[in-house]
Amino acid sequence: MSKYNLPKGYSAFQVLFKTKAFLDNPIIFMKNSMSKFGDTYSATIGLNQKIIITQDPNFISYILKENHKNYKKSKFLSENAVELFGNGLLFSNGMYWLKQRRLIQPGFHKEKLKGLYEIVINSIHVSINKFPIGNDIDIFPLVHKISFTILIKSLFDINVPETTMELLGNTFSELQTFFIKDVNKPFEKIIYPFTGEKKKALAKAKVVRTIFKDIIKERKTSKIQFNDLLDMLLNSKYEDTGLEMEEEQVIDELIILIFAGHESTANTISWLFYLIATDKESQQKIAAETKETTILESLNNEYLKAVMYEGMRLYPAAWMTGRETIENDNFKGLSFPKNTIIVPFFYGLHRNKTNWEDADKFYPQRFLNDPSLAKSKNFFPFGAGPRMCIGNNFAIAEIAFFLHAFFAKFTITPTTQIPQMKSLITLKPDKVVLNIARL
Ligand code: HEM
Repeated sequence: MSKYNLPKGYSAFQVLFKTKAFLDNPIIFMKNSMSKFGDTYSATIGLNQKIIITQDPNFISYILKENHKNYKKSKFLSENAVELFGNGLLFSNGMYWLKQRRLIQPGFHKEKLKGLYEIVINSIHVSINKFPIGNDIDIFPLVHKISFTILIKSLFDINVPETTMELLGNTFSELQTFFIKDVNKPFEKIIYPFTGEKKKALAKAKVVRTIFKDIIKERKTSKIQFNDLLDMLLNSKYEDTGLEMEEEQVIDELIILIFAGHESTANTISWLFYLIATDKESQQKIAAETKETTILESLNNEYLKAVMYEGMRLYPAAWMTGRETIENDNFKGLSFPKNTIIVPFFYGLHRNKTNWEDADKFYPQRFLNDPSLAKSKNFFPFGAGPRMCIGNNFAIAEIAFFLHAFFAKFTITPTTQIPQMKSLITLKPDKVVLNIARL
């Protein structure tokens, strides 16, 4: 008998037969498993790797907040990621992570971000002016491209040539595709020396690093003062030594800001478009608020905020995350050994019927009726605890400005096509096909 009390779940043998169903649709698989076993279940992978998956708000909060010191980012994800994307905030651990987080955090405070709003807003206006109108338009690739441009502009407030922009965008998506495959099909690693896939991916990662290196080189010789995230990274100094980051560290963090910030925001905006298109009332209310406010003031638009929260509740771009126990731990009668991987399942948390009324319904008003919901343990769109999203204020501002600029000009209606969920690293819609008309 095991000396640990793990929750019920799948044995290593059962996992072998369930892997395909899991990979086909991880969210549905986890939801079904929870209907079978309850809000927390376990699985054993390989010889003895224990995994616990949970949508229990108290357990998630315990891991991410109350006992966060006993948890680190799981090796399973981060080892692969660091090779491709460098050792930036999202994947680093321990003292190195803490040092970097302390250094970078001030640049993302609300007050500091105000300096970036002009760049974000200008970039949004340029894109919205070119937004197509007509029927059956898949807005997903457009929103994806726009949000990439906004992020690159906020990182480097220079005119990055269109060709470089495209190269960066394509290289990033190729790297992400390889990364997902690498994580989902670890056994294929054996054939990499023959297919050369890994070598190609590493060469692509080098392309991105070289582009950033050139931009940094130019910046260091420039006499102009910029108000972008690159200047923030270059000028931040460690508290203890008073020194700046090494160039390679700056590049690591730039890459991670793009990796963590791009798809998550693009997916959130795309899901919001779909939800708003299907709910006339919310669109009318957003349009009414938009008329009364400037784009900058949209950050305080109460209804818009409720719509954003409700969209992120139903379709959290970060639909899950992963941690690994540093030492043996226990929680409410459960006990588990060190190196157990714990997966907080945010999608399940946000639709848990015990804690949310009409959990699957798009009902923004719930956040106005009870503002405490946005701060509760049942709602973690940006994670929780010390590793909570560093870019949350930036993301909220970008989404609010985008929606304000869009609904000042256009209306949208749904089509018969319902977006399907693709839960890879982030939760993305396969397509968001809408009818768009000018106001
Ligand atoms: C709607 C958009 C976004 C969502 C839903 C989101 C969600 C999250 C979540 C849930 C985490 C925590 C992951 C964990 O605990 O393992 C996280 C971390 C992070 N996010 Fe975001 N994010 C968004 C936008 C952004 C943006 C715009 C940036 C940067 C410009 C960004 C940068 C980061 C970074 C660097 C981390 C790692 C923080 C650390 O570990 O210290 N995110 N994000």
